[in-house]
Amino acid sequence: MTFAPDLKDPGLYQERIPHDIFARLRREAPVYWNPENDGAGFWAITRYADIVEVEKNAALFSSDYARGGSRIFNENEVGVASTGSEGDSPFGIPFISTDPPVHSDYRRLVQTSFLPGRIAGVGDRITGRVTDLLDKVPLGKPIDLVPLVSAPLPLLTLAELLDVPSTMWIDLYNWTNAFVGEDDPEFRRSPEDMAAIMGEFMGFAQELFITRRANPGDDIASLLANAEIQGQPIALRDFIANLVLVLVGGNETTRNSISHTVAAFAANPDQWDKVRGDPEVLNTAVREMVRHATPVIHFRRTATADTELHGQRIRAGDKVVVWYSSGNRDDTVFEEPDRFDVTRPNNRHLGFGSGPHICVGSRLAELQLKLLFTQLATRVRKFELVSPPRRFRSNFINGLKNLDVVLIPA
Ligand code: HEM
Repeated sequence: MTFAPDLKDPGLYQERIPHDIFARLRREAPVYWNPENDGAGFWAITRYADIVEVEKNAALFSSDYARGGSRIFNENEVGVASTGSEGDSPFGIPFISTDPPVHSDYRRLVQTSFLPGRIAGVGDRITGRVTDLLDKVPLGKPIDLVPLVSAPLPLLTLAELLDVPSTMWIDLYNWTNAFVGEDDPEFRRSPEDMAAIMGEFMGFAQELFITRRANPGDDIASLLANAEIQGQPIALRDFIANLVLVLVGGNETTRNSISHTVAAFAANPDQWDKVRGDPEVLNTAVREMVRHATPVIHFRRTATADTELHGQRIRAGDKVVVWYSSGNRDDTVFEEPDRFDVTRPNNRHLGFGSGPHICVGSRLAELQLKLLFTQLATRVRKFELVSPPRRFRSNFINGLKNLDVVLIPA
């Protein structure tokens, strides 16, 4: 039988990440043409070194919205959040879907929110939030960790960054689930439902834009609302698109890193013992958490000129998709890549991407993981999974909807 997996099929990720398929692609077809229903298709890049090569060469492999952007679907055709409302999307262009010089302008601006000094300040408050959340988690009996810890922590951190009330975390949760849940009926129940969610979100975003222009603070919403990009004030639509980028980028990812990591500690109690024995291990363990979880499955680029990779001719205009889930299990880079090893040395994983678009929030994500698992180490002796978690139906986010687990007290 021919080996022709459809990596775009969200059903492929419903039960698990198809690591066996990725391993075979890395071996046999590292530059694999994946046809799509509409007659188009994309090149799937699955080896670590090739992903790095594609991502670092932004001039040849563009993220530009006008060419299709950074998502597997063409953003310029269906809208950034894939609202299904072609042409009338209120969303502008998020900076992840831009190239220099526009990308460089945004990056310079946004980076200031993630400087080590700024993050350290947020860190003190994250510690307090973690304590509050964990104080409410019952030990020794089955709980769903997602609504109690994995979901609220990153959203409370984001509320802090945006300087909006912490009580808003549940709204942010519902909005972002709908934005990335285009392939999951549980998140995208009906067009009417999506319209209602969009209406709520738009009201919030517009008000934020107006108030932060009138009265700017040093939060990230104020930075974006008052941004000048290529000498022009940012348009409301672009503000909204970039707000969505920060909201989705900052929470789905960190949330799923937390859930997958607790599941990994349940499956590998010796690794949890290592952390408990020496919490300093967490300084490097956070890297392994993100590598092993790889919450973002892929991103996309578009070739700007004809080129060749491993003998395959890639033509100008071709879609090129880099699969982080695969690169992070490449055994030419990671020894025993399927093993969860909190002391793994030189862990230069691709969970945050690479090249000019490398995740701007990576240090903040790692800090949240470190502060959470530091406190868990003093409270929890062992994690016991109650049942296999239900997964997102998504080719983009490696997501867990729930994580039923018992935290055995220390
Ligand atoms: C474990 C948590 C996280 C993971 C796995 C993750 C993953 C990623 C990945 C794969 C990219 C694309 C990189 C590329 O194209 O090379 C990215 C970009 C980005 N992330 Fe994250 N992220 C995380 C946390 C965060 C946080 C906490 C924030 C902000 C609060 C954030 C904001 C962004 C933004 C704004 C971009 C676009 C950067 C650009 O285009 O220059 N992320 N992230």
